[in-house]
Amino acid sequence: MPRASFDKTALLYNFVEKHIWEDYSSACTLINEYLSLEPQETIIDVGGGTGLIAKVLRSKAQNSDIVVVDLSRNMLQKLNDSTISAIQGDVTVFPLRDGTFSLAILINTVHHIPKEKQQASLREVFRILKKQVRILKKQGRIFIIEIYFPNTFFSNLFVKIETLLVGKTAHLTANAMKQEVHKAGFHAINVFFPKKYPYRYVTIGLK
Ligand SMILES: C[S@@+](CC[C@H](N)C(=O)[O-])C[C@H]1O[C@@H](n2cnc3c(N)ncnc32)[C@H](O)[C@@H]1O
Repeated sequence: MPRASFDKTALLYNFVEKHIWEDYSSACTLINEYLSLEPQETIIDVGGGTGLIAKVLRSKAQNSDIVVVDLSRNMLQKLNDSTISAIQGDVTVFPLRDGTFSLAILINTVHHIPKEKQQASLREVFRILKKQVRILKKQGRIFIIEIYFPNTFFSNLFVKIETLLVGKTAHLTANAMKQEVHKAGFHAINVFFPKKYPYRYVTIGLK
């Protein structure tokens, strides 16, 4: 996925996410429902774009360090919040230290990474999470929200439009995601299928 794709859509991204697609509202609902936050997390929002979700996390985890990493400079420029750090970078080759974060979130990011690089991305996320096996609550966690469409006329049309706007996507089924997350080294992987959003699923794993 070329960086330029999201650079082009950055200007309208927040408006579209908040008022046209249900990506933002569904992510807020699913975070409320499935993500528990410790008082002091070190959170990395991978492919965090304009920081829409990082700002939601900030309102819930005021003492946490939050870093947004994204390929697109234009997306990051919209972040505009001095309490959240922004790094321009590629998840497949992070310039980040081992064991830095307690929680990694990837909201609608994985399907924008080419299929052949998705495993490398998950391994990188695994590497930068903390491992504190003796205290279960503080083990590094990965939290993923993804979308997988059925093979219908309208969903194929949607995927075509998305491809035109931001480049080719590579959606994984929930089962394939579970396998990829496991291959990357995570365990205790749970997948949830929220009733309210039939095309979306949540994957949570522990380091
Ligand atoms: C659909 S947007 C989601 C943004 C954000 N997570 C949200 O929910 O608002 C996908 C984001 O992933 C970023 N992205 C795609 N491939 C990436 C990569 N290899 N490394 C880092 N970011 C990437 C894009 O630049 C884009 O901002």
